Amino acid sequence: MFQKGLKGVVAVHTKVGLVDGDNGILRYRGVDVKELVLDYSFEEVAYFLLYNNLPSENELQLFTNKLIKGRTLPEYVQTIIDTLPSTASIMDAMRTAISAFGTTGFLEKDTMEQAIHLTGALPVIIARHYRNQQELPIIEQNSDFSHTENYLWMLQGTSPSLAQVEALETYLKLTMEHGLNASTFAARVTISTESDLPAALTSAIGTMKGPLHGGAPAEVLNLLEEIKEESRIRVVIEEKLKKGEKVMGFGHRIYKTEDPRSILLREACVRLQGSDPWLDLATMAEKEITSLLEKYKPGRNLYTNVEFYAAAIMRSIDMPSVLFTPTFSMARMVGWSAHVIEQVEDASIFRPQSLYVGDISEK
Ligand code: ACO
Repeated sequence: MFQKGLKGVVAVHTKVGLVDGDNGILRYRGVDVKELVLDYSFEEVAYFLLYNNLPSENELQLFTNKLIKGRTLPEYVQTIIDTLPSTASIMDAMRTAISAFGTTGFLEKDTMEQAIHLTGALPVIIARHYRNQQELPIIEQNSDFSHTENYLWMLQGTSPSLAQVEALETYLKLTMEHGLNASTFAARVTISTESDLPAALTSAIGTMKGPLHGGAPAEVLNLLEEIKEESRIRVVIEEKLKKGEKVMGFGHRIYKTEDPRSILLREACVRLQGSDPWLDLATMAEKEITSLLEKYKPGRNLYTNVEFYAAAIMRSIDMPSVLFTPTFSMARMVGWSAHVIEQVEDASIFRPQSLYVGDISEK
């Protein structure tokens, strides 16, 4: 049987996440993501995805300390990042630095310990290469700051506001895990050969880099920039639809109802309303665009996808678009790791077949 792109093929059994596109449900370890996002921190949700239970106070403290320890990069990893050309994309720097962890005694730790350490390290890798590219001094991590707060601190060199931290953290928690997407699949294929975690994460980052997977929010930003103000929503969107163009941030291959992540990001935007004109524009634009899509594309059920409000949130916290995919990856690091750990337990190699369709000739 041949199925192009493995579309619709069930390739693994998983207890990590459930993506129910028909009913618009996303569950981490059986729990509705909404419940987790509203009630728990990044650190708690990450712990839950990795260990399959919520941490006690002591466990959370221990886990947080391990993440903080990961923020201190080994000197040789710092040197590798610092010697990369500034033209290297941040995704390239992440892939190279994470790969470099696999060249040392780091691999002697058990896989879970490696996963926690690298989750702590990735935001530091991102910030280091970003600031090198901008020719800005490196900012030291601050152990008093949470994972999310420290990321913004190391990027910007100023203490972020509570609203900024909350907005970004909502996004990070919502994008930690999303079933057998291309990068998660790549990570599972790599570890299925009994390779190691840095190798699997290197595969995942390399896969995430492609614009068909991790690159969409920047396009939504362009749309919001083109709209600029409420009075221009209709004219900009109608022009696109009349030309047969797609409206960025709307529609989804799997979700045929509202993307649950989009609903939660919208709620985060509403909570923050008044704090940033971009969030206000996004919430106003959504209503009008949805009704225009229903008029021009009746019955297609086109709703906002996660990228629409992600872009608005990123813009409201002054996150440059070069950091969108790296930031997405920093969240997905947890999901990749949880899948790798599950795949190790499964212990069967992925080895599908190919069908030869070339010529057969005698030499
Ligand atoms: N704007 C206008 N029309 C749309 C849109 C849109 N955003 N999305 C779908 N349609 C229309 C199509 O033109 C098509 O119309 P038709 O029946 O007249 O031909 C119909 O709805 C079905 O569209 P498909 O492209 O077949 O839907 P599919 O489920 O295959 O595509 C996709 C999903 C690729 C996400 C699409 O909705 C799209 O291109 N959206 C805009 C880009 C975007 O926001 N991408 C981010 C996705 S989220 C993520 O990657 C994490």
